[in-house]
Amino acid sequence: MLNNKMTELLHIKYPVLQAPMAGGVTTSTLVAEVSNAGGLGSIGAGYLTPVQMQKQIREVKKLTANYFGINLFVPNKFTFTENEIHIAHKTLQPIREKLGLQQSENSEIPTATDYYDVFKEQIRVIIEEKVPVCSFTFGIPSQDVIDVLKEQNIILIGTATTVREAIEIEKQGFDLIVVQGSEAGGHRGHFMNGFQESLIGLMSLIPQVVDQVSIPVIAAGGIMDGRGLMAAICLGAKGVQMGTAFLTCIESGAPETHKEAILNADEDQTVLTRTFSGKWARGIKNRFIEEMQEHETSLPEFPVQNILTQTIRKTSTLQYNQDFMSLWSGQSPRLAKTQTVAQLMKDIIAGANSLGVKHE
Ligand SMILES: Cc1cc2nc3c(=O)[nH]c(=O)nc-3n(C[C@H](O)[C@H](O)[C@H](O)COP(=O)(O)O)c2cc1C
Repeated sequence: MLNNKMTELLHIKYPVLQAPMAGGVTTSTLVAEVSNAGGLGSIGAGYLTPVQMQKQIREVKKLTANYFGINLFVPNKFTFTENEIHIAHKTLQPIREKLGLQQSENSEIPTATDYYDVFKEQIRVIIEEKVPVCSFTFGIPSQDVIDVLKEQNIILIGTATTVREAIEIEKQGFDLIVVQGSEAGGHRGHFMNGFQESLIGLMSLIPQVVDQVSIPVIAAGGIMDGRGLMAAICLGAKGVQMGTAFLTCIESGAPETHKEAILNADEDQTVLTRTFSGKWARGIKNRFIEEMQEHETSLPEFPVQNILTQTIRKTSTLQYNQDFMSLWSGQSPRLAKTQTVAQLMKDIIAGANSLGVKHE
């Protein structure tokens, strides 16, 4: 039951993927430890430059001989006006002052074309470095990108939040699909329907997707242990992708304040917000989310708002202040623990085995 088409394809012992988490969480040690423990570690490279990416890929290769993955953001078209930026800066100003940041900066905002050029370079590095697995979120890359990766036999994973998105991902020639339930921490990966319509709970999403596609489905959102893994498998998934559970591991690069916030949170403390980045994401409610809530729908879109809040998030983190940093978390924070990756992996498999499935 735990060995299947997906574990074969990914050359892994256990059907457990560590979620790629952009923003410094997925250190080389975290990624390599997951792969060394029989799962699939993955670099969250969405915010990395091609040079940073190359460096990290090489580090991971030194730490593991096993398969690992890398994840990119599919660039979205976006527009903004000077006036929108001005208004957004004004709404952020009181928070900047609370942190001792006096002036709103004149942030340099790259264009959508700039982002696309970086994306192309990221793809080039992945091919050059022969990374075995590449996953995407925020959409489906263009056919030429898919073709060039497939020519190199790189295994492709797409992210879907609805059946329609999953069908489209399969149609474009992807090998596997991560289905992201509404429980999931971090950014929503929806790209076809609106945000509200794409909030499907994982228990509803898995069997409906499994019935409509033939490629293996990987479940993500709120899964923290062997019970979650077995539940996902019972519903037809071939494995799971877990973010929050790995984020609080010792090897994760998340700031201690972020780890502590998750370890102390209850299930009713996470909310969906677009105040940090301009894209809807799930995190623990804090002062930033509360104070920005009234501007929620009028803020610039991703990645513009993400750039505008960068200094605030960074300064808050440096000041060990949970109030103004993004505390991404899924809906199962009560199940998070401080432990090593090896212990977490061991517990997941022991938990699954205790439910009647023996893994040799
Ligand atoms: C801190 C954080 C950062 C994330 N960054 C990414 C990312 O860069 N790319 C991606 O595909 N998913 C990202 N995700 C979403 C995960 O892939 C996954 O959907 C989610 O972690 C599952 O929910 P869970 O956190 O409850 O396990 C992120 C999640 C978290 C918590």
